[in-house]
Amino acid sequence: MILLAIETSCDETSASIIKDGFNVLSNITATQNEFHEKYGGIVPEIASRKHIETINLVIKEAIEKASVNEKEIDAIAVTFGPGLPGSLLVGLSSAKAISLALKKPLIAVNHLEGHIYANFLIPEFETLERKKDLFPFLCLIVSGGHTQLVKVNDHLKYETIGRTRDDAAGEAFDKVARFLNLGYPGGPIIDKISKNSDENAIDFKRPMIEEEYKYDFSFSGIKTAVVYFCKKMEKGKEKKVNKNDIAASFQKAVIDTLIEKTTKAAIEFGIKTIAIGGGVASNSKLREEMQKLSSKLNINCFIPPAWLCTDNAAMIGCAAYQKYKQNIFADLSLDFDSTARI
Ligand code: KG4
Ligand code: ZN
Repeated sequence: MILLAIETSCDETSASIIKDGFNVLSNITATQNEFHEKYGGIVPEIASRKHIETINLVIKEAIEKASVNEKEIDAIAVTFGPGLPGSLLVGLSSAKAISLALKKPLIAVNHLEGHIYANFLIPEFETLERKKDLFPFLCLIVSGGHTQLVKVNDHLKYETIGRTRDDAAGEAFDKVARFLNLGYPGGPIIDKISKNSDENAIDFKRPMIEEEYKYDFSFSGIKTAVVYFCKKMEKGKEKKVNKNDIAASFQKAVIDTLIEKTTKAAIEFGIKTIAIGGGVASNSKLREEMQKLSSKLNINCFIPPAWLCTDNAAMIGCAAYQKYKQNIFADLSLDFDSTARI
């Protein structure tokens, strides 16, 4: 069974060919970082224009690299939301056109379920599923637009137990990096410079760690705390700390919060397997702390390779396969939903 998957929800144009749900024959992703870099963040109009320019080339390359014939494609999967309206529209229009031309069904995938399904592309994860030893598992989704703790009870059966009340974790990384003039996207830069820095230089308050907030997150306060600290430091009212140590201390506060809430949820729900997804999941400290959590609680912990953490079409194809098996199809009336939830 061959699926063509398309992902254009934000600023990556990606297409993938997936065989039998788990075998990635190709995954081509065109990033747009260089076009947004000088603005310090994603400019939606530029994102949609770049998607239009590259989508056909990316799809063509994915098909060629997989060495499949167009006629062998059994279904077209596409991200319908959440994401930037103009960006989603480009992927959706392409998927509909191909579905119509090839007379093959269309499958609508929520971007967040894609981030969860990236884990099924890890062979050991899929093995657990085959052994019927996987569900329920907990997935921490941490991306530029979302921070969400999801209990996955079965295929396509999601129970969100916590989400951010304001900024997403990746958004906080990007905003703090912009404030510190470190560059864009901020996450990978802060990750890199934190490695040889003092993460205990500043003890930023861990946001919403109190019991009443349960599994919800908040990352806008910590971004403000960084700004206040720097302003006070400039006025000589705080000790002098170098930029890299400020970034590392910020990173530690964010990751401590993510780990603490995930640990609590794993214990409360008696979880045996934790998965993680989204761009921030490629953060080396988060990956390290997740491994520690897994040994501490003696449970499985899966972290997809970095290319499956950031936006890609392979994860969309993997989620779509389950919909295909359950006969869940969309039709040409499918519209984007920029605020879609799971
Ligand atoms: O999942 P993703 O590619 O796009 C969204 O769905 O939002 O995530 C992008 C986010 C950006 O905020 C980026 O700064 C962050 O992921 N990110 C990281 C790292 N790599 C990407 N954050 C922290 N550490 C990283 N190594
Ligand atoms: Zn994403």
